[in-house]
Amino acid sequence: MPSPKQRRRFVTFVVTTIVAAGALYAYLSLFEAQTRGPMGNFYRIPILILGALLAYIGVRAVNAALFDLVFRLRRGYEAPTLVRNIFTLIAFAILFVIIFKAEYSDVNLGALFTTSAIFGVIIGLALQDTLGNFFAGISLHADRPFQVGDVIVVGQQKHTGVVEGITWRAIKIRTFQNHLVLVSNSNAAREPIEVAPRINLNARLVYFGTLYSDSPAKTIHIVREAVRDADNVSQRITPIVRIRNLGDSAIEWELKYWLDDYAKYNDTDALVRQRIWYALRRSGLTFAFPTRTVHVERKPLSRVATAAEGITDRLAAVDVFSPLSADEIQRLAGAAIWHVFAPGETLIRAGDEGSSMFVVHNGRVQVQVSENGRPRPVAVLSEGDFFGEMGLFTGEPRTADVVALDETEVLEIRHESMQQLFETNPSLAESISWTIAERRAALDASHREASQVSIEESAGLLASIKRFFGLR
Ligand code: CMP
Repeated sequence: MPSPKQRRRFVTFVVTTIVAAGALYAYLSLFEAQTRGPMGNFYRIPILILGALLAYIGVRAVNAALFDLVFRLRRGYEAPTLVRNIFTLIAFAILFVIIFKAEYSDVNLGALFTTSAIFGVIIGLALQDTLGNFFAGISLHADRPFQVGDVIVVGQQKHTGVVEGITWRAIKIRTFQNHLVLVSNSNAAREPIEVAPRINLNARLVYFGTLYSDSPAKTIHIVREAVRDADNVSQRITPIVRIRNLGDSAIEWELKYWLDDYAKYNDTDALVRQRIWYALRRSGLTFAFPTRTVHVERKPLSRVATAAEGITDRLAAVDVFSPLSADEIQRLAGAAIWHVFAPGETLIRAGDEGSSMFVVHNGRVQVQVSENGRPRPVAVLSEGDFFGEMGLFTGEPRTADVVALDETEVLEIRHESMQQLFETNPSLAESISWTIAERRAALDASHREASQVSIEESAGLLASIKRFFGLR
């Protein structure tokens, strides 16, 4: 069944042929005698024009019959435009020469054509698009910005797929829906093209979101480990998990990973998302919903008690608090402030003013002192260890940097909490100064025996504590 467009073209063809042939017939019947007279050359011009028009229509008809019917039926695909245009041009030129020669036998056509700009314009117009594609194709071949097998994104419609071929006319792309897209070379030359070369280690970004209550350090570790050995994820570069944005209802994450075969990125993206889901599920982390969620959290009593017990137990095991009674430890635990730090964060900076100390509840920190302007690690403290006691009890500037090695939870004991304890139990200051001095001696064990605590040091500390807390 012919399409409406084909029917329209056929009607135009028939009408134009009838009009041109009719006009030629009428002209010849009216002016035939004059064409042989002294002004014959002038009177033959309309015959030449109408003859050329009929010749052009005839050539187009043969072209359509030959290429739209015969070629397509025999080959099963459309004939290349270049071939069709060349056929039209040659056939028309031959017919034109024949008509011209018939009307103006005494004119030297060769000389006319070599000097005629009209001929050049005709060729230029007929082959405008084709030549554009042809030359753009040549420049693509010369430039070689991409090769067969590379994944490219081209054009305003963002055609994406694997390059199957670059012909003189177009770039053939096999899309991920297994369609074939042809982007003409001249279009491709005008548009930006994004190329993921087959021999390059190409990366992809996958996004996801977690709840604000979930730990970033844990998320990074869990997701990276879940994804790194997935099929088609390159082993050459470790995937990167990083926070992209702190959104309204989620910590928004970006996972960057590299692929062995980029052409399979759809499958690999899907696999990676699946791995993330399972990993988060296993480790108790939660995807955030893309909505504003109001969480009304009612903690069961038993959980509050357990958490408080955890803190009480932790503080009770810290030797600097060993002189405190169970009741005093309980009060201290009630006033302790819980903090969490990311790996690499500085908890205490040498030289800063500070009047609180910290107990490591979870994780590890490193104590660093500055040596020739560079940090030198002197100790690693973990669960149950404490630091910052000098600042808390004496108010002196911090003596070292303390940096988190892992994600670290600490309990902060502030000056006010200790102040209250000292007020109800003034003898505490003495026992605490002794404990601190003991610890100092232990830390300084390279210079003297660990157990050897200097009386003066303890007395000096006691004086500092009394001064700082305003005790008598
Ligand atoms: P403060 O001076 O208040 O702040 C830095 C803390 O680092 C310090 O208290 C101690 O708790 C701790 N610190 C300093 N030097 C050492 C060390 N050599 N070993 C272990 N901890 C230390």
